[in-house]
Amino acid sequence: MEIHSTIDGMRTASRAARLGGLRVGLVPTMGALHEGHLSLVRAAKQQCDAVIVSIFVNPLQFGPKEDLAKYPRTFEHDCQLLNKEEVDFVFAPSLGEMYPGKALTYVTVEGLSDKLCGRSRPGHFRGVTTVVSTLFHIVEPDLAFFGQKDAAQAAIIRRMVRDLNSPVEIVVCPIVREADGLAMSSRNVYLSSPERQSALSLYRALQEIQRSFEQGERKSAHLIGAGKNVIVQEPGARLDYFEIVDPDTLDPMKEVNRSALVAVAAFLGTTRLIDNILLNPER
Ligand code: PAJ
Repeated sequence: MEIHSTIDGMRTASRAARLGGLRVGLVPTMGALHEGHLSLVRAAKQQCDAVIVSIFVNPLQFGPKEDLAKYPRTFEHDCQLLNKEEVDFVFAPSLGEMYPGKALTYVTVEGLSDKLCGRSRPGHFRGVTTVVSTLFHIVEPDLAFFGQKDAAQAAIIRRMVRDLNSPVEIVVCPIVREADGLAMSSRNVYLSSPERQSALSLYRALQEIQRSFEQGERKSAHLIGAGKNVIVQEPGARLDYFEIVDPDTLDPMKEVNRSALVAVAAFLGTTRLIDNILLNPER
C-alpha cells in the first residue's frame, strides 16, 4: 500500500493506474475508520482494480462551534486496517497541501445544501462538495463510494456530479450498524455509556416508523409522530430534525406514495448523531 501526502504524487500514481487500463475507485473519508468505512472499501475492491482511500479531516465542513479540534485522528490504525483490506493507495494530505491559502472558490449545490443537516449546520455541505470535487480533480476516479449513512450528503454529491457532468460514477453503500442497531460513526467514541444507550432511540424510532408504514400508514405527519414519540421518551436525546423527504431533492413529502427517505438527527449531550431509513411502497 502506497501512502501519498502530496497532490502531485497522488495524481501521478492515479493517472498511471488509469493509463494502465485499471478502473480506479476512490473512497473519501475523514479517517477514524470503522466497519462502515471498510464496507465502502470492500465494495470498491469488488468493483475496481485500484482502490484509493483519502483521509482528510476537512475544516471547510465544520462550523466554528463544531468538533474539528477534537475529531478523532487515528492515522496509524487506519493504515493498518486499510493495509489488511489490500487498499492500493492512501491519500493523506496535510491541511497546507489541500488549502495552501485562503480559497476563493467553492462548489455549492444550491437548494439542496440548506436542507436536513444543512439547516442546522450552515456551510457544512458547501465544505463537503468543495472538498469532494477537489478530491475528484486530484484522483480522477472512475467510481467514488459513499455511505447511505449520510443520505443527504450522497444526494448532494450525486446532484453535483450530474450538474457538473463529472466523469465519475457515484456508488452509495448501505448503512453498517452495531449489533444493537446503532449506526456506526466516527463520532460514537464521544458518547458516554448512558449517552450510547440513549443513542439507540434513533434507530428504534426509525424502526417504529418502518412498522407503522408496513401496517399501511402513508401520511408523513403520522409516521413522523410515531418516530418522535420514541425520541421524546428518551430524556437523554434532544431532537434536531425528523423528516420524510424525497431521496433526490430532499424536499419534504406529505405522503409516502413513492420511495422516501426518513432522516433523523439528534443530540446526545453535545454529540450530534444522524440516522435514516428508506421507505418503499412498491416493495
Ligand atoms: P466520514 O464521516 O469519514 O465518512 C466517509 C464515508 O463513510 C461517507 O461516505 C459516509 O457516508 C460513510 N459511512 C460512515 N459511516 C457509515 C456507516 N455506518 N455505514 C456505511 N457508510 C458509512 O462523510 C465524510 O467522512 C466526509 O463528509 C467526506 C465525504 C470524506 C468529505 O470530507
